[in-house]
Amino acid sequence: ARVAVLISGTGTNLQALMEQVKKPWSSAEIVLVISNRPGVEGLKKAALAGIPTRVVDHKQYGSRAEFDSTIERVLEEFSVEVVCLAGFMRILSGPFVRKWSGKLLNVHPSLLPSFKGVNAHRQVLQAGVRVSGCTVHFVAEEVDAGAIIVQEVVPVMVSDTEDSLSERVKEAEHRAFPAALELVASGTVRLGEDNKIHWNTQE
Ligand code: GRF
Repeated sequence: ARVAVLISGTGTNLQALMEQVKKPWSSAEIVLVISNRPGVEGLKKAALAGIPTRVVDHKQYGSRAEFDSTIERVLEEFSVEVVCLAGFMRILSGPFVRKWSGKLLNVHPSLLPSFKGVNAHRQVLQAGVRVSGCTVHFVAEEVDAGAIIVQEVVPVMVSDTEDSLSERVKEAEHRAFPAALELVASGTVRLGEDNKIHWNTQE
């Protein structure tokens, strides 16, 4: 499957996805990286790997709809089939999410449905839970509420800070996101009409 990865920053998840698709049996190829912010580290990572990049700077658009339709146009230009949001810090509008339903994946640094939204790690530490982790899910119109594809658990240490926890969760993300992408790109997992996950298990 032809995959686009949307980023806003460092791109360590992008790096993990790029390494995954290089495996000979991978069902995915990354054909495009889009960032909503210019000059971020993730763009350099993509360029080093020879992957075409585009910057769609949300500050240059008057509305969310115009921003989203520009993203849409670039995705069509590259015949993209699956979109991975890897640290992409923009909320995509309803029409965009509906069009890409079942083809739009996001990684969130907590065990959804717990600790939705930004600063998940801070919420985790304040709640005093003993485990956290990451969730890769299909994007739905409600933020951080789409059908869950893969999760991975990490322990929360009593000495943890937001930084130490986010570092441990990111290591899990770098395994979970590539695994989820392969499941979707290979058709093993798909989003049903009921908005539930369906596994195509070979009987
Ligand atoms: C990840 O921790 C992800 O869960 C969150 O943003 C971070 C992106 O990190 N949404 P990177 O840009 O992939 O390094």
